[in-house]
Amino acid sequence: MSARTVKLAVIPGDGIGPEVVAEGLKVLSVVAPRHGLTLDTTEYELGAKRWHATGETLPDSVEEELRRHEAIFLGAVGDPTVPSGVLERGLLLRLRFNFSHYVNLRPVRLYPGVTTPLAGVAPEDVDMLVVREGTEGPYAGMGGVLRRGTPGEIATQDSVNTRFGVERVVRYAFAKAAERPRRKLTLVHKDNVLTYAGELWQRVVREVGAEYPQVEVDYLHVDAATMFFVTQPRRFDVVVTDNLFGDIITDLGAAVAGGIGLAASGNINPEADFPSMFEPVHGSAPDIAGQSKADPTATVLSAALMLDHLGYGDAAAQVERAVAEDLQARAKDGGTRSTVQIGDDIAQRVAEQG
Ligand code: NAI
Ligand code: MG
Repeated sequence: MSARTVKLAVIPGDGIGPEVVAEGLKVLSVVAPRHGLTLDTTEYELGAKRWHATGETLPDSVEEELRRHEAIFLGAVGDPTVPSGVLERGLLLRLRFNFSHYVNLRPVRLYPGVTTPLAGVAPEDVDMLVVREGTEGPYAGMGGVLRRGTPGEIATQDSVNTRFGVERVVRYAFAKAAERPRRKLTLVHKDNVLTYAGELWQRVVREVGAEYPQVEVDYLHVDAATMFFVTQPRRFDVVVTDNLFGDIITDLGAAVAGGIGLAASGNINPEADFPSMFEPVHGSAPDIAGQSKADPTATVLSAALMLDHLGYGDAAAQVERAVAEDLQARAKDGGTRSTVQIGDDIAQRVAEQG
């Protein structure tokens, strides 16, 4: 790639967010210049601290500023002192929806040297890419409450599935599957019960699949998929699924692939009409915050996804290689390094690759 400056918005957030983001930025600062990339970073204080201080989750003016960046790098937001839903809906989901992050990309990969809770499973058995729809489904915020607090209360939470929304994420998933060696795509849904939405997803996968004859297509109900994630992870290559199912199966995927400290994600707008946002799957982990106990690896791998999205695939591969080496070495060191030490070690390995 030619020399370029990318405007990067950084949202460290709460709890361990700032700790892991610092390590992600450290690794980026080593790898980026080696590929002609300059990151022009601006930090934004959003999350529980700001909400307590000002009552704001995401002021319109800040959203407008964020929009003028090429990418967003986020740690985690949330704290037990903030009512559930305030930051999830007011900040995270608002960014995902308003910036049209219709692809929530979550790789599930077992690196050599990492312990999986699954017996008899080797790294080559777990290498999948979950493409979770990010802007629709039951997370769209459609529905309402009637007669709240009375015995006759009714709450509805509608699942929104548009032809347009399903097709664009399915197209992305097929394109990814076609690029990967196994060329397999599994649709995960529950079309035997959620018949209206399920049939739409099935039909779109069939129609788009006709353009990708080289990609093998499979279908699994979500309940069966959870079973096979554990008993036959080898079945999966690219998985495409709706927002809620994707949220749940990727936590299972993270567990299978060595834990939440390693799980990376990208909230992607593939057309780059809006900045995409890269963040670890985990939250702010208040139980270990401030103790330098958090594993920054998920954040570093999220930075690699960001590099790839920005067109710096070689830089991304370099970071992934450094992480793979670090994870392999970790199997021997007993897992006693601090957050900062792990960040230092990964950055050092990147530097040694030249
Ligand atoms: P969590 O992911 O923060 O923590 C779950 C468990 O995993 C905890 O025991 C924690 O110590 C551990 N853990 C998480 N990340 C780790 C890391 N990098 N290294 C080592 N251990 C790690 O989920 P939890 O406890 O349900 O939520 C805590 C807060 O985070 C809540 O306020 C929640 O709303 C918020 N949250 C925010 C997310 C985001 O910003 N995208 C995503 C998930 C939760
Ligand atoms: Mg989740």
